[in-house]
Amino acid sequence: MHYNIRMNDILRTEGLSKQFNSRTNPLYGKTFTVNALSDVSVTVAKGETLGVVGESGSGKSTLARLMIGLITPTAGRIYYKDTTVDAMLADHSRAYRKAVQMVFQDPAATLNPRFTIVNLLKEPLAIHNIAPEKERRDHAARVLARVDIGAEALDRYPHEFSGGQRQRIGIARALSVEPEVIILDEPVSALDISIQTQILNLLLRLKDDDNLTYVFISHDLSVIRFVSDRVLVLYLGKVMEYGTTADIFSDPRHPYTKLLLASTYSINGSRAVDIADDISIARNTTGCVFYPRCPRRVPECLHDIPRVDVSSTHASWCTQTNA
Ligand SMILES: Nc1ncnc2c1ncn2[C@@H]1O[C@H](COP(=O)(O)OP(=O)(O)OP(=O)(O)O)[C@@H](O)[C@H]1O
Ligand code: SF4
Ligand SMILES: [Mg+2]
Repeated sequence: MHYNIRMNDILRTEGLSKQFNSRTNPLYGKTFTVNALSDVSVTVAKGETLGVVGESGSGKSTLARLMIGLITPTAGRIYYKDTTVDAMLADHSRAYRKAVQMVFQDPAATLNPRFTIVNLLKEPLAIHNIAPEKERRDHAARVLARVDIGAEALDRYPHEFSGGQRQRIGIARALSVEPEVIILDEPVSALDISIQTQILNLLLRLKDDDNLTYVFISHDLSVIRFVSDRVLVLYLGKVMEYGTTADIFSDPRHPYTKLLLASTYSINGSRAVDIADDISIARNTTGCVFYPRCPRRVPECLHDIPRVDVSSTHASWCTQTNA
């Protein structure tokens, strides 16, 4: 099942699912299968930002890791332009590894503390054979300047920088190989609000300058609204609603999206996580995974939930979409 394939799509998933096995549920003491992602079909057009939002455990990072090729799907496919990512990864040119870069929430965990900044920035250049060795320091300085860090930083170590500056360095590292797509998994969640705004503005500027495509993951709806062209709302591994930013924020149809948007509700709260932990019930039954929490549930919600098209850009997986 796909949704709205468009001419300029650069990344596309078709029925993408990922199960993890052998996680022991401490409550029941036995292993079981987690449907971390179920039947996700989404397209990302060149130059656009797809926002992915959902509570902890909704499958956001699983989607990111599948898209980048760190893990393989249990079912479904990912296409980059017209080629499956499997085929691109099997070809030893590393073209996909260069084209699709990732920025993580915690740059401290991804920047090797024993490397100087120049070496951190030169590493991807060496891997992808970009610029002759003697020009790589200048290349690194130019990329660093693009994230507003001066060349004096080149010979320093990651721990000498603040969280915001380290995230700038993480972004520079992703940018240095001139990717087409950057997948950003909660890139500002660990930062103070004022720093978040600076980093978000920087990301938007870089995107415009390089005509980049972003998949931007966040549990924070205000961040998603600020950066996204289109939005995918996930809950327990399933798509609840999908639409343009205006569709999702001005005309939400799914009770889960409405719950997220309700100003009194924090999706970062423990309540959500506690309920999401009860995954053996919600994830592995037929019908709507939101049923246990839904204020609008009706008996038909316990059967398969078809996609309901609200418009050509907007879909919701809910029996009450138009009610
Ligand atoms: N390697 C793994 N082995 C077993 N289960 C996993 C694995 N990775 C993820 N999961 C499970 O898959 C589900 C989705 O996890 P995922 O990390 O994708 O969620 P998320 O939306 O990124 O959450 P968060 O907001 O906390 O980062 C969770 O129930 C998680 O425990
Ligand atoms: S399908 Fe039913 S249970 Fe699920 S969100 Fe819609 S109304 Fe609620
Ligand atoms: Mg995550």
